[in-house]
Amino acid sequence: MASISQRDAGVIWHPYTPMKVWPEAIGIRSGNGTYLIAEDGTRYIDAISSWWVNLHGHAHPYIAARVSEQLNTLEHCIFAGFTHEPAVQLAERLLPLLPGNMARIFYSDNGSTAVEVAIKMAIQYWGNKGVSRRRIVAIDGAYHGDTFGAMAVSGRSIFTDAFAHLLFDVSFIPFPAPGCEQETMTALNALLAQGDVAAFIAEPLVQGSAGMRMYTTAVLEDMFAACRRDGALIISDEVMTGFGRTGPLFASGQIATGPDMVCLSKGLTGGVMPMGITAAAQHIFDAFLDDDRSRMLYHGHSFTANTTACAAALASLDLTESAECTANRQRIIAAHTAFAATLAGNPHIADLRQTGTILAMELSAGTASYHSSIRDVMYRFFLDRGILLRPLGHILYILPPYCISSEDLEYIYGAINEFLDTLGR
Ligand SMILES: Cc1ncc(COP(=O)(O)O)c(C=O)c1O
Repeated sequence: MASISQRDAGVIWHPYTPMKVWPEAIGIRSGNGTYLIAEDGTRYIDAISSWWVNLHGHAHPYIAARVSEQLNTLEHCIFAGFTHEPAVQLAERLLPLLPGNMARIFYSDNGSTAVEVAIKMAIQYWGNKGVSRRRIVAIDGAYHGDTFGAMAVSGRSIFTDAFAHLLFDVSFIPFPAPGCEQETMTALNALLAQGDVAAFIAEPLVQGSAGMRMYTTAVLEDMFAACRRDGALIISDEVMTGFGRTGPLFASGQIATGPDMVCLSKGLTGGVMPMGITAAAQHIFDAFLDDDRSRMLYHGHSFTANTTACAAALASLDLTESAECTANRQRIIAAHTAFAATLAGNPHIADLRQTGTILAMELSAGTASYHSSIRDVMYRFFLDRGILLRPLGHILYILPPYCISSEDLEYIYGAINEFLDTLGR
């Protein structure tokens, strides 16, 4: 029998994969905690939480039991005109935890759809109010997903080039890199002064796909506060940063000015089932309450509020709120900080940054692009050592599940040192 990997090569088209130069995929048979176990028996430490989704490890018995119980009770049902306990319970539990005063949960399928819904809510909010605000503001280099609306509010890049002529206009402000915050605020204030900004969307504290670019809570507060003063709606895209990645439960929960909408996905279900959420504050919801049906929100997906995904999310939330998970996050943060200190002054590292459980290293070698040649070298180097790290161009980062052991973290740090040594002294 041919291997999974060989059979894959004949039938599968993989995401974000140059299929001509990188046709082979590693066949994975099972998962266990931090590990992905390949068909040839190799164990890979999932040091990037499988594209930032996994929180508590693979095949977690508690989540598996809750999902299995749900599958045997009600696997899914239509969510228009019908409702169910897992969706209501998840909304009841999440709303008080979310940043801002969130009042309603709108379910969808993934991070991109969570963003699509937020954009549609924001645009129609102003339309329903009869106010002409049409401009959407986003940050240079942002990544909010791959559907058309989500691409439009993402930075123009190799990801979006082929579709550039079809993306709606968005005003981008400079990334608020430490030391350059004033430039960002000047640009944002100039746009707000035009009086037509419908919404501002941001990845709070860390721009993920742009290369784990980080900025301060102070400038996040300044940006949100400026929008609030103007009346522009604030969308906090916590798809990557949510559920503890940056330390606290939500990155934008740390600042005084709450958003009007929050987008969630990835860690929402512990990385077990696909699901998206767009949470909205009361005034957003109220703007759609009307006898005139043209003012309702015309949006919904077949799998909206899938019961099994809700069950996974509830189980994951139990684990995320446990003292053990909090302690694990603190342990990872401290370990990253200690490792980062040992790298200070390393000539091969142009920039080293950490926000919570995310540690990123920008290498001086290689060019600054997603397809930087050093990227493939690094990817292979770590795979050969049983570690899944998937650099963003020349930026190497660790974003582990919270259950990762201290020994595995040390093993990854050791391998990074070994890689840096290959670059010469
Ligand atoms: C901040 C952010 N928003 C949205 C998305 C899109 O999520 P999905 O891949 O689930 O569509 C991502 C994915 O990486 C993301 O990082």
